[in-house]
Amino acid sequence: MAEALNPSLTRRDAARLLGAAAAVAAVPSRWTARRADVDALLRQLTLEEKVSLLHGATDPASKGQAGYVPGVPRLGIPELRLADGPAGVRVTASATALPAPVALASTFAPDLARRFGAVIGREGRALGMDVLLSPMTNIVRVPQAGRNFETLGEDPLLAAALVAGEIRGIQGEGLIATVKHYAANSFENARQTIDVKVDERTLREIYLPAFEAAVQAGVGAVMAAYNHVNGVYAAEHPHLLTGILRDEWHFGGWVMSDWFATHSGAPALTAGMDMEMPFGVNYGGLTAAVSSGRLAESVVDTAVRRVLVQLDRFGLLGGGRPRPAPDPAGGARAAKEIALAGAVLLRNERDLLPLGRADLADLVVIGPTAASPLVGGGGSARVIPASAESPLTALRRQAGPGGRIRWATGVDLEGVPVPASALALQRTQQGAQQGGAPQAAAQVDHTGADALAAGSSWTWTGTLTAPETGDYDLRIQGAGGVPSFNGSISLTLDGVKIGSVGALLGGNSSLIATSGGLTNAGATVRLEAGVAKPVTVSATGVAGTPLQVRLAWVTPRRRQEALREAAALAKGARAALVFAFNEGTEGADRAALALPNGQDPVIGAVAAANARTAVVLNTGDPVLMPWVGNVSSILQMWYPGQEGADATATLLLGGASPGGKLPVTFPRRAEDVPTARPERYPGVGGVADYSEGVLVGYRHYDAHGIEPLFPFGHGLSYTRFQYDGLSVRAAGGGLSVSFTVANTGWRAGVEVPQVYLGSPPGPPVPMPPRALAGFARVGLSPGERRRVTVAVPPRALQYWSDGRWTLARGRRTVHVGSSSRDLRLRQEVTIR
Ligand code: BGC
Repeated sequence: MAEALNPSLTRRDAARLLGAAAAVAAVPSRWTARRADVDALLRQLTLEEKVSLLHGATDPASKGQAGYVPGVPRLGIPELRLADGPAGVRVTASATALPAPVALASTFAPDLARRFGAVIGREGRALGMDVLLSPMTNIVRVPQAGRNFETLGEDPLLAAALVAGEIRGIQGEGLIATVKHYAANSFENARQTIDVKVDERTLREIYLPAFEAAVQAGVGAVMAAYNHVNGVYAAEHPHLLTGILRDEWHFGGWVMSDWFATHSGAPALTAGMDMEMPFGVNYGGLTAAVSSGRLAESVVDTAVRRVLVQLDRFGLLGGGRPRPAPDPAGGARAAKEIALAGAVLLRNERDLLPLGRADLADLVVIGPTAASPLVGGGGSARVIPASAESPLTALRRQAGPGGRIRWATGVDLEGVPVPASALALQRTQQGAQQGGAPQAAAQVDHTGADALAAGSSWTWTGTLTAPETGDYDLRIQGAGGVPSFNGSISLTLDGVKIGSVGALLGGNSSLIATSGGLTNAGATVRLEAGVAKPVTVSATGVAGTPLQVRLAWVTPRRRQEALREAAALAKGARAALVFAFNEGTEGADRAALALPNGQDPVIGAVAAANARTAVVLNTGDPVLMPWVGNVSSILQMWYPGQEGADATATLLLGGASPGGKLPVTFPRRAEDVPTARPERYPGVGGVADYSEGVLVGYRHYDAHGIEPLFPFGHGLSYTRFQYDGLSVRAAGGGLSVSFTVANTGWRAGVEVPQVYLGSPPGPPVPMPPRALAGFARVGLSPGERRRVTVAVPPRALQYWSDGRWTLARGRRTVHVGSSSRDLRLRQEVTIR
C-alpha cells in the first residue's frame, strides 16, 4: 500500500541536518562564551610563541606518542601530547587494546562506540595525553586497502552514527579527539602523492558525511589527509578546509596535518590548515613570512585562536586539570563486550556452531593465530596490551577438564633456525672490548637463555645455501632491538633487505609473534639448490632487555608437512576449527584479496578431512573464500583486541550468540569489486579516478546485479528472527519506520534490523537501488517480540545537486531486513 508523505524540509530541519544549528547546540556555547579570555591570551603572545603553537616539535619527555606541541608556560598554555589511535592509546606503556574499529562498526551500536571512545579517552588522559589521533572514518572503498581495519565500514550513515558516538565517548573523558583523514583517503599505496579525482556529489554523499557528523558531535580537531583531492593537497585545500569545514559546517576546532603531509607554509595556513605535524618543516617559516609582510599576522592569530579555544573548552589552560587513574579492568571489560558484539557469523550450516560438549572432547584446532593471538592491525593503530591470551588457551580453559583440544599450525610462519649445514658465517660484535674480531658462527639462534647481552650490537655475514630448489620463507626473529625507523634487527640476502624487527611502525614484521613471543619478519624467496647467496644479519640491542635474534626458515618441504599434519589431525576428530588471518597495516595495501601465506589449501585440506569444519577469521576486511562451500561454519572475529581470545571461545562454545553484521561487502571474485579497474585503483599516472561515484560498496553490487559472497549487513545468529507489521510515517523531515522483530528460536540473541530506502523510478541523478537509511540493535530472549522504531533522517531522502541537498521525490520503497540482501518487509511511500 502506498502512503503519501510530505517530508518537505523546513529551514530548521535543514539547518539541524546540515549541522549548523546542531554544532552550536552540541558544544560550542563555551567556544563563544570564553572567546574574550582567549582573545586576551592571544594578545599577550609574541609572534614566535604563536607560531610555536602551530607546529609539532621533539618532546623533551616523550612517552612514545606520535606528536608533541610545546606550550607557553608563562601564560599557562600547556604542552600537548598527541597519541594514536583508533584501537587504543599508542604510547610506550602498555594500554587497552580494543578490537579493531571494523569490529566496532560490525556492532551497528552507537552506544558501544561511545563506550569504546570512553575507554580510550580515560586511558589517554591517564597516560599523559591531551589529544587523540582518532577516530578514523575514511569510507572503505578498496576491499584490500591496508587500513580498512581501522575505519568504520563502507556506508556513510553507519560510519556517521558510530563516529559521533565514539567522539562523545573520547571527549566526555576530557581527551580531545581528532577525526581523520580528511578527506577521501581510501587506500595506502602512493597515499602521499595520489590525486583523488572525485565529483562533488560523491564527496558529499559518500566521503564527507562521517566527518560532518564528527563536527556535529563537537570534535576538537580534524586531521588533513596525505592525498590530493582534485589536484590540490588535502592539507592545503581551501574548499575542504575552509569552504566546507568552517563556512558550511561551522567547525570550531583546529585542523592539523597528517604526519609530514604539509607541503607549504603560508598557502596551507591560509587555506585553513592550522597546525603542521609532526615538526615545523614549513610552519617554522611562518614568523619570517609575517615579518617580511608575506603573511598577515591575523591569519596566524585565527589559527592560534582555534587551538586555544579548544584548550580552554577542555579545561587545559591555566594549570589544566587532574588526570584520572588508569582503569585496566574497565578497559578489558569493554574490550571483551565489543569483541563479542562485533563478531559476525557468516555461515552456519547444520548449526555446527556453537560447539557442544561432545565436540570439545575431541576437537582439533588449526592455524598459527589460534596459538599466537592476532590482537590488532599494524601501523599507527597498533596497540601493545599488557597481555593477550591465545584462542587455544581460552578454548581449553573454557572447555574445562572434559575437553580434549589438539592443535597443529597448518601454516608454519615460524620455521626452524636455518641449520649450520646451510650457512657459512662469521660474526662480529660492534664496539666490543676485545676489539670485535670476527669469529666463526654456526647459526644465528640466540633466544631465551642463549640471548645476547642487553644493549650489545652484532653482525653476521657469510653465505646461505639451500639444499633443494624451491620457495623458502626466510625469517628474522627477535626482541630487545633498539626501536628505530627501519628496524634494528635485520636480514639482508643478496643485497636485498628481506625483513627487519624493531621498526617504529612495525616495518614488514608480522603482527603474529612466534610461539616464544619473538617478533617475526621476512619474505618468501626462491633459492636454487647449491647456490651460495651472500647473507647479512645485524642486530642492535637496547639497554635493559636481552637481545634475542634468530635466523629461521620454512622450507618447501616443511610447508607441505605442516599442511599434511593439519589434515591428518583433523581426520577422525569430531570437529575441526581453522583460524585464518590476514595482516592489515598502514603504509601498504594487501597485494591480493586472497588469504596470504598459503592458507587456502590448508583450509581446503582440513575441510576435505573433516566434514564438520568451522573457520574463524581474524581479518581486517574482506577475503576471498574458495573453500566457502566446503566448510560448515565461518565466524568473523576481525582483529578482536586483547580480550579477543576469551570472546572467541565464548562465542564458539555458545556462551553468547554472535550479533554483529558486516559493515563491508565480501566479494565473491576479485573482478567483482567496484575498484577492479586500474584507473580507479591503484590509479594511473598518479590519479585515482573515483568514477564509480556513489556506487561504493553494496551500492555497486546492487546497481550492477552482482552476487556478493556475503552482503553488507549480513550476519547470522544462533537463534532466528521474524519480522512483521511494518508501518512508515513522515516525521521531522524524514521518516519514522516501525516494525516488530521476534526471536523465534530457543536461544537469546541480538538482531540488527536495517532500513533501506529505494531510489525513485527514473531518479533525477544516478542512484543506487537501495541505501541504508537507519538501523537498530535489539537483544531478544527466546520467544520475545519487540516493536522497533527507526528514525530515517531527512538526509537519507536527499541527494546532492547544484551545491545543495535536494529531496529525491516520487515513489520510493522502504525495505526492512536482516541484511542488504535479506529484505523481509517493504512498503511504498510517495515523497512529495
Ligand atoms: C598516519 C596517521 C597517524 C600519524 C601519527 C600517520 O602516518 O597516517 O593516521 O595519526 O601517522 O602516527
